[in-house]
Amino acid sequence: MKALERTSRKIEHIDHTLQLSSKERAHHSFDDIQFVHQSLPNIDVDNVVIHTNVGELFLSSPIFINAMTGGGGERTISINRSLAKMAKKFNMAMAVGSQMAAIKDKNERATFEVVREENPSGIVISNLGSEATVAEAKEAVEMVNADALQIHLNVVQEIVMPEGDRHFSGALDRISEIVENLEVPVIVKEVGFGMSKETATKLANVGVNVIDVGGSGGTNFAKIENLRRDHALDLFNDWGIPTAAAICEVKTSQPFLSVIGTGGIRTGLDIAKAISLGCSAVGVAGLFLKDLHQNGSEGLESTVERLHYELKMVMTVLGIKKIDDLRKVPLIISGETFHWLKQRGIP
Ligand code: FNR
Repeated sequence: MKALERTSRKIEHIDHTLQLSSKERAHHSFDDIQFVHQSLPNIDVDNVVIHTNVGELFLSSPIFINAMTGGGGERTISINRSLAKMAKKFNMAMAVGSQMAAIKDKNERATFEVVREENPSGIVISNLGSEATVAEAKEAVEMVNADALQIHLNVVQEIVMPEGDRHFSGALDRISEIVENLEVPVIVKEVGFGMSKETATKLANVGVNVIDVGGSGGTNFAKIENLRRDHALDLFNDWGIPTAAAICEVKTSQPFLSVIGTGGIRTGLDIAKAISLGCSAVGVAGLFLKDLHQNGSEGLESTVERLHYELKMVMTVLGIKKIDDLRKVPLIISGETFHWLKQRGIP
């Protein structure tokens, strides 16, 4: 794919995300998850701490700024600068968008480098697709002096994209080689269609120990790509494993993996539910992009403050002082998520 094509595609993804995510959220799989209220929690809000570990990474906040922009010129540089400033302010981990653009064309490096410039000692995570080689993975990590590498799996997005990739053979072998040869941890992520227990098992077998489930219910790349097509291809609009089910698929089949819950996170209650299902942290993409667009950096910061405070409020009501203990609370699971887990034999 030509550099110009890739650049304008990145900008279109941003615009279409803003267009789609401005609509109200319909039913989300987290609506099927309920906590059991505890009337005597015996703690104060100030007793609650929300730091967490994801594999080898220590995170002050359980919220990742998940991969979005990379390549695309001044506009994406400005978005990444704002996100990186916020990451620094709240000591949050931040993943950059796919760096393949900058590996193919050195002029695109600025979009990524700005993230490290703004946040020299924070946790920055590189990002590439599963077509990447070991040499490309090393270059991506070196470009931003990354603390980890994300490899995204986005078969549905590519299929819906008219100019998208049609060759998906060998991805697991390439991931395996990258895991073996990279000095930083590798996180494998979906982009909104969810990770199954079969996929998680394949990844665990080649040494991956962090998975971001990237479930359905948030940003929907089938719909976004459709907005870019002359003739809509609706086949995959409702495709995917909902985030709550995907977390259970991965965590129950591979209990020793660290799991990141991404896909439609909007509130501190969503974060608490994702963690209670087994996540160590959550990733947020669309919500932050929309906030930055509508309300600027101040709006973005107040959203993070809100998410942190809401999470602490929920933990207080449940009598839970730290993230690890949130994974042990009893839950009631109903609706589609209940049926999904039952039919998949997930306890
Ligand atoms: C993304 N996402 C993404 N993921 C990735 O691994 N590499 C990438 O380059 C991108 N690019 C990208 C652009 C834009 C505009 C958006 C909104 C998202 C996917 C992202 O990291 C995340 O997995 C999904 O967006 C689901 O999370 P939300 O948006 O529901 O919080």
